[in-house]
Amino acid sequence: MAVLPVLRMGDPLLLARASEIRDFDTPELHQLIQDMLDTMEANNGAGLAAPQIGISLRLVVFGFENNPRYPDASSVPKTILLNPIITALDDTIENGWEGCLSVPGMRGLVPRYCNIEYSGFDPFGKSIKVTASGFHARVVQHECDHLDGILYPQRIPDLTHFGYIEELLESGQLTALPCDD
Ligand code: NI
Repeated sequence: MAVLPVLRMGDPLLLARASEIRDFDTPELHQLIQDMLDTMEANNGAGLAAPQIGISLRLVVFGFENNPRYPDASSVPKTILLNPIITALDDTIENGWEGCLSVPGMRGLVPRYCNIEYSGFDPFGKSIKVTASGFHARVVQHECDHLDGILYPQRIPDLTHFGYIEELLESGQLTALPCDD
């Protein structure tokens, strides 16, 4: 079990495009994935991308069971996804509150596609193709943005809907606490 430090916004590595993974099913890859899962769970995150722990590879993990702390978020299947590609299935866009372990203590209102298909590979090189909607689709889009050097504050069209959790809750902008991606 290794819980690693999470890079925070301002670190240039979070703004870099991560590299494709070419070698599947290696001991180093499995160790990296275990460290990412440990780090995500220790921080109660909904997802984590490899660049957030300083590894510039196209690898994300996400997923959680129904959690009473996040009543508005339905469960998302635990997934390890390498070299992901996202396709929007239609033009429907929905605003939702997001947080990020690399932007601690803050939340912002971000538009995302409602309905997507994502594809990629599992750690053994087997291909994955899944359709997702709602919060599941949001988490995948947030995590995959990390692989292109994009943090969610860069996606907020109206920065009056961006702030510290306590103040957003107090002002009533935020009613429930969504999890950190
Ligand atoms: Ni994030």
